[in-house]
Amino acid sequence: PGTPLVDTHGRVHRDLRISLTDRCSLRCTYCMPEQGNEWLARASILTLDEIVRVAQVAADAGISTFRLTGGEPLLRTDVVEIVRRLAVLTTPDGAPVQVAMTTNGIRLPEFLPALVAAGLGRLNISIDTLRRDRFRDLTRRDRLDDVLAGIRAAAATGLRPLKLNAVAMRGVNDDELVDLVEFAIDADAELRFIEQMPLDAGHTWSRENMVTREEILDRLSARWRLEPVPGRGGAPAERWRIDGGPHTVGVIASVTAPFCGNCDRLRLTADGQLRNCLFSTSEYDLIPALRSAAPEAQVDPARIDAVLRACVRGKLPGHAINDPSFLQPARGMNAIGG
Ligand code: GTP
Ligand code: 5AD
Ligand code: SF4
Repeated sequence: PGTPLVDTHGRVHRDLRISLTDRCSLRCTYCMPEQGNEWLARASILTLDEIVRVAQVAADAGISTFRLTGGEPLLRTDVVEIVRRLAVLTTPDGAPVQVAMTTNGIRLPEFLPALVAAGLGRLNISIDTLRRDRFRDLTRRDRLDDVLAGIRAAAATGLRPLKLNAVAMRGVNDDELVDLVEFAIDADAELRFIEQMPLDAGHTWSRENMVTREEILDRLSARWRLEPVPGRGGAPAERWRIDGGPHTVGVIASVTAPFCGNCDRLRLTADGQLRNCLFSTSEYDLIPALRSAAPEAQVDPARIDAVLRACVRGKLPGHAINDPSFLQPARGMNAIGG
C-alpha cells in the first residue's frame, strides 16, 4: 500500500477505467449485437460503496484519474453519487484525483448540472456520424438528435478539453471525416478518430474495413495543415494542431501504431473484475475481497490492494492484435468499457 503500481515492464499505472454497467441505450455494430448481449447478473454488479472502496485503495496506490465508462455510464441511477464520492479522493501526495466520463451523450442534458456540481472533471462523447440515416443504421436506434443535444449541453459547460470520439469505418463514415472535425471545432471540442479494434461480440472486425491512421491523416491533410502536438505521455491519442489555430484533432491508432509501451491503464468491470489490458484474456476477481467478510465486519483494504498488485504484475508488454495467434477476449467491448 502507498507504493505506486509499477508493472514488470516499468510502466507506472495512474489511470483506472471503471465500467458502471454493461447496458447501453444504443447498439453500435462494432460493439454489440442487435439483440444486445446477455447482461451481467444484477447481483454481481458492484454497488456504489464497493466501487468507492476499490477506488480508495487505487488512489492510495497512486491512481490519479478515474474514468467512468459502460456500456453507458449514465444508465446507472447512482452515477451522480458515484462521481461525488470519487471526486473527493486524493493520491498519496494529497492531490485530488480527476473524475472523467466517456458517454454516448444521450442523457447529458438531464444529468450535466448535477455531474458538474458533483465534481466531474472531463467528458468524452462518442459521435461516429452526423447523418441521421447513418446514425440509425450504425447504432440501430434513431437518436442522433439526443446525442447532438448532449454535445451542445457539454459544450455549454466549462469542462475542457471536451473530446468527441469517432470510430472510422470504411463505407460507413469515411467520407465524413472533415465534416466531423468541423463539427467538433464548432463545439469547441477535439475530434479523435479511432481505428476499429476487434472487440465486438459479433466478431465483425476485418482489417480491410478498418480505416487506418495513415488513411485518416491523408484525408485530413488534403484539407488542413496538421502540425504534431508534442508531449503525448501515456495518452492513446496522437494529436495535431489544425492550420496553426487553436483547434486540434487526434487519432487513436491501437492497431497500426500501438502505444502499449506507455500504457498507464487498468480496468474495473461492472461485475468486479480487474483487467490489465483491453485485450487481456485473464481477469483478477475483486469479489472475494469485497464480499467475503463476515456480516458487519469491515472489508480489508489490504485484500483489495493485493488483487490490484497481482493484476499489475500479470500485465503483458502489449496486445497481440497483429499476431496470427490473436484471440479476441471473451468479454465484449460493452462489458469492458473501452
Ligand atoms: P483521454 O484520457 O481523454 O485520452 O481518454 P481515452 O481516449 O483514454 O478514453 P476514451 O474512453 O475516450 O476512449 C477512446 C478510445 O480509446 C476507445 O476506442 C478506447 O477503447 C480506446 N482506448 C482507451 N484506452 C485504451 C488503451 O489503453 N489501449 C487501447 N488500445 N485503446 C484504448
Ligand atoms: N474499436 C474501437 N473503439 C471502440 N469503441 C467501442 N467499440 C470499439 C471498437 N471495437 C469506442 C466507442 C467509444 C469508446 C469508449 O470506445 O466508440 O467512443
Ligand atoms: Fe494498454 Fe492493452 Fe491498450 Fe496496449 S492494448 S495500451 S497494453 S490496454
